[in-house]
Amino acid sequence: MKLLLIPLLVGIIAYSSRFVYKVLIRFVKMSMKMKIIASVCVGVAIFAMCMFVGGIFLAIVAHMLMLFLVADIILLIFKVPCCQKFDPSAFKHFDKIFSVGLLILAILMSVWGYFNATDIQATKYSVSFEDKVYEDTRVMFVSDIHANDSNIKRITEAISETYRIEKPNVIIVGGDLTDSSTSWQNAKEISAFFGSMTDEVPVIFVYGNHDIMGGDDFSSHELGNLLERNGITVLCDDVYEMNGICFVGRNEYYSQSGRGVRADIQSLVPGNGQNATVVIDHQPKDLEKLGSIGVDMSLSGHTHNGQIFPLGHICNLFGVNEMQYGMKRFGSNTAIVSSGVGTWGMNVRTQGVSEIVIVDITKA
Ligand SMILES: [Fe+2]
Repeated sequence: MKLLLIPLLVGIIAYSSRFVYKVLIRFVKMSMKMKIIASVCVGVAIFAMCMFVGGIFLAIVAHMLMLFLVADIILLIFKVPCCQKFDPSAFKHFDKIFSVGLLILAILMSVWGYFNATDIQATKYSVSFEDKVYEDTRVMFVSDIHANDSNIKRITEAISETYRIEKPNVIIVGGDLTDSSTSWQNAKEISAFFGSMTDEVPVIFVYGNHDIMGGDDFSSHELGNLLERNGITVLCDDVYEMNGICFVGRNEYYSQSGRGVRADIQSLVPGNGQNATVVIDHQPKDLEKLGSIGVDMSLSGHTHNGQIFPLGHICNLFGVNEMQYGMKRFGSNTAIVSSGVGTWGMNVRTQGVSEIVIVDITKA
């Protein structure tokens, strides 16, 4: 995995350098050799700033690179012989208009993306399972909080408000509660918040890939212990039963890369065929298989529905995830994938919505 990261980093820096050359350096008067050196230096500096500064700076650069990539592909199409007579790059001042236009568009998108990311909405689904015995149950599913100083207050207030309106019977925290931006103080704060809700309803947690990686000053093991001390049920290849429904929480898929092996799902699903079964898996994996072994519903997050336009469309095009967003049927399994309540890396979302999912499991 680490070996794959090296060409990926080199590719990103090379593309950033090309981007810097196209929008900035080529307009400066200097030799071609100096232009290339300057482009690489500024490209590396921008990459480093993105890593260390993050936030809106990272958002603008990410959108610039994405828009630049799309523009590159479009301009490449105009290089095809039959399209050459429409080549927009032949127009006067095209280069300058192109560069400034992309920068303005990236800034506007990032600003709008901030407001879109912070506008948390409730997304509602209703499902029923045939030939199963269970009681009507309202589930609140929150995934991908990525708790840190800049979002904890806003997200916990949104969850409290939605809880007050919807009155769910169970709260499920579907992974990526934390990431490398989460301090131990943040982890204690968000654990105490969900812990306070266990006075009224059960709260279930499954690990996400970022939880497994741990924060800067705590491990996934310490996070699990903290949640359990606050009364939260941590499911890691375990089953929790309520209202006749078996909630099967899977160990995070990422944990298989050297941090243990997750159990075969078949061994976790009740074999009597009578219990309604809901699988909670941070990453939407094995959705067809779940539908073939009698699972009734699966709940996942992880994808963020792309978060940064047009990343979601690119992921869809290349089938990066078995399912990216929404509700879809796979055999007996009604799979629901959330775009998450929070965001990763920056408080900006230009694809999808920030959401708290409410699922009504009702009788057929
Ligand atoms: Fe996430």
